[in-house]
Amino acid sequence: MLLAAFCLSGQAKDYKLPKPQTKAGMSLLEALSKRASARAFSQREIDAKTLSTVLWAACGINREKEKKITAPSAINAQDILIYVARQDGAFLYDPRTNTLKQVTEKDVRPYLAAGQQFVTQAPVSLIMVSDQSRFGNRSRGAADMGKYDAAYVSENICLVCTALGLNTVPRMMMDTVGLSRELGLTPQQVPLLNNPIGWPPAK
Ligand SMILES: Cc1cc2nc3c(=O)[nH]c(=O)nc-3n(C[C@H](O)[C@H](O)[C@H](O)COP(=O)(O)O)c2cc1C
Repeated sequence: MLLAAFCLSGQAKDYKLPKPQTKAGMSLLEALSKRASARAFSQREIDAKTLSTVLWAACGINREKEKKITAPSAINAQDILIYVARQDGAFLYDPRTNTLKQVTEKDVRPYLAAGQQFVTQAPVSLIMVSDQSRFGNRSRGAADMGKYDAAYVSENICLVCTALGLNTVPRMMMDTVGLSRELGLTPQQVPLLNNPIGWPPAK
């Protein structure tokens, strides 16, 4: 299994990701000219370096000193949590430590599919969850801000996937009730979007 190769830290199932690539892929303008939703995937696994690069591009830290991230974020709340769903479980990405923390050993991808069977064929899905508690007492507008923030992160994922030759599609469809239960989300943590990801199928 891909994650077994990661370095285990401590007792908890935390997996240290390798450093992301920050100079790979095509130019931004080329990626924009090629970006398209794709809903077919090969079964080839996504290696740890590629996963780390996609997660960093999504909302990883790009200004170490200020701990700011690749995606803009309303009032710099950095409310978007990314969960990585795979056949062997679901993992929460921590951009500050570049680690994945396992939250369940269950395959939650069927909760994402919501009738779109192609989703369960993707080896990895990234789930964007807005943690509304990060907006503090600014509850007015927090729901909208979370949606905008998730969309920026999802677009980053679309573009980095294009640049690396991966297929993906941004999706709203999912069973948010089942998913929230399986991921152990609080009532303030709201699943908003997901991106199934995989290499293109062989032609
Ligand atoms: C907010 C949003 C939600 C979407 N939800 C889904 C979805 O649940 N399932 C799906 O197959 N595609 C979904 N899409 C993808 C759109 O269908 C797709 O972007 C559109 O058909 C345009 O195609 P393109 O992305 O190749 O330009 C969604 C796109 C956006 C922006």
